[in-house]
Amino acid sequence: MVTVEEAHQVIEQAIGTYAFPDQPAGLYDPARYFMGLGGKRIRPVMSLLSAGVFTSDLQPCIEPALAIEVFHNFTLVHDDIMDDAPLRRGAATVHTRWDINTAILSGDVLLIEAYQLLLKAPPEKLPAVLALFTQTAKEVCEGQQMDMDFEQMDVVDLDTYLTMIRLKTSVLLGCSMATGALCGGATEEEAQLLYTFGEQLGIAFQIMDDYLDAYPGEGGFGKKPGGDIERKKKTFLYIRALELSDEEAAKKLTELYASSQADKVERVLYIFNSLNIQQAATQKMEEHYKKAVNALNTLSEKGYDISVISEMGAAIMQRRH
Ligand code: IPE
Ligand code: IPE
Ligand code: MG
Ligand code: MG
Ligand code: MG
Repeated sequence: MVTVEEAHQVIEQAIGTYAFPDQPAGLYDPARYFMGLGGKRIRPVMSLLSAGVFTSDLQPCIEPALAIEVFHNFTLVHDDIMDDAPLRRGAATVHTRWDINTAILSGDVLLIEAYQLLLKAPPEKLPAVLALFTQTAKEVCEGQQMDMDFEQMDVVDLDTYLTMIRLKTSVLLGCSMATGALCGGATEEEAQLLYTFGEQLGIAFQIMDDYLDAYPGEGGFGKKPGGDIERKKKTFLYIRALELSDEEAAKKLTELYASSQADKVERVLYIFNSLNIQQAATQKMEEHYKKAVNALNTLSEKGYDISVISEMGAAIMQRRH
């Protein structure tokens, strides 16, 4: 069985040797720059680990795993335009370092590149892998649209928020795991269990992402702190804070959050702190993590060794950047 470290090495090596064309430099330099900024690479690593549950020959699973990382990078380049984000992975975002038009087209080429990589999946697996990837890509767009629509809304209920983050974030984690599993020889049913694991873990992952955006901790988060509050994003923290407030406090928080006043981030954080929002976030994360682990246990009951997936899942729950 492949270890987490080995999967990381395989992916970093595949990314390192992956060559974008030189010309036109205005298209490929930003794509190369962005992919080279690193990131945690959790999706391709989870994909290879999922493959490793079913096979010891990871070779046919590497390019599909890479496809998912390249797709993820496409979503981030465009997401940073939409979120007006200056920083990513501790460095300037593509539209800040170049300009918006460059970020649109370099993002597009990453998306197309992702399809090209995916086409290298084992031919007999390709129809299933392509169908899942295409469905996932559409869902990510749907989630991103909901996320932007919510910027204009004062109140979003928790279930609607959970649908939004399932679409914008967690389906891709599910897809990465199911893709690895399918390429590694899993049945559709087995791949579905890993999809559910990734999907539920992905919900916890996005709640943590919301938390870290407001509370980046000492080492920073590689993004501009408080960016979600500035952009009026309907995060778990905001939604839960409204639920925990009485009518008057909720009205005040809604007004403050919709404003653009200079000390807004500080004041919102003060309210979040007073409501012990960290505990609420941790609780919700745990709830979804449990669902993820249940799916994994079903796979374990079928006799598969899932220890390395559990290990990686637990590490993602501890994420601090
Ligand atoms: C960021 O994903 C976008 C979200 C879905 C929250 P990651 O936190 O995996 O980003 P990188 O690739 O490690 O930078
Ligand atoms: C990201 O959501 C989801 C996608 C990029 C599809 P966020 O907007 O919260 O991600 P970050 O915080 O910018 O990484
Ligand atoms: Mg963003
Ligand atoms: Mg966003
Ligand atoms: Mg975020």
